[in-house]
Amino acid sequence: MTVTATESGAPESGAPARTAPSEAGSPFAPALLAERARALADHPEEWVHRVRLDPQGRWYERVHQDADHEIWLISWLPGQSTGFHDHGGSAGAFAVALGTLEEHRVHDRREVGAGQVRSFGPDHVHDVRNTSDAPAVSVHVYSPPLSTMRRYDLDAGGELVRLAAESADDW
Ligand SMILES: [Fe+2]
Repeated sequence: MTVTATESGAPESGAPARTAPSEAGSPFAPALLAERARALADHPEEWVHRVRLDPQGRWYERVHQDADHEIWLISWLPGQSTGFHDHGGSAGAFAVALGTLEEHRVHDRREVGAGQVRSFGPDHVHDVRNTSDAPAVSVHVYSPPLSTMRRYDLDAGGELVRLAAESADDW
């Protein structure tokens, strides 16, 4: 299993360690978040009993939270997606544990398969989708813990238009 890409910074080698805040307000650098996400995705026996599949929308559950970071499990049935969103200034990473997801950015789209991880800095906007014909499960790590998320739409010119903001109280 390999780290497929990072949005900011090079993957760090060696043992995961707390890093100096290189991103505004993010106690953990994206590469470390990727490491955390991948480590948990590699051990489904620790969490698979929690996972549910919800035809009404993505199922998610926070499985860890402290002052520095939080970890969520998300399940995706075929066709379920997040829509374009940011992470309110948090850095993050997600690792696909089962199935395949697609990460869409304004001018870019990439498949993230089981065993792969994506990480990103605090300015990242994306739309994550299950465009496959099978369920998917992913592990998401954010640092600092998410406090707000803003939603976006694409206008006719393909540019992002900011929509509503959601706060942690909404989820
Ligand atoms: Fe996201």
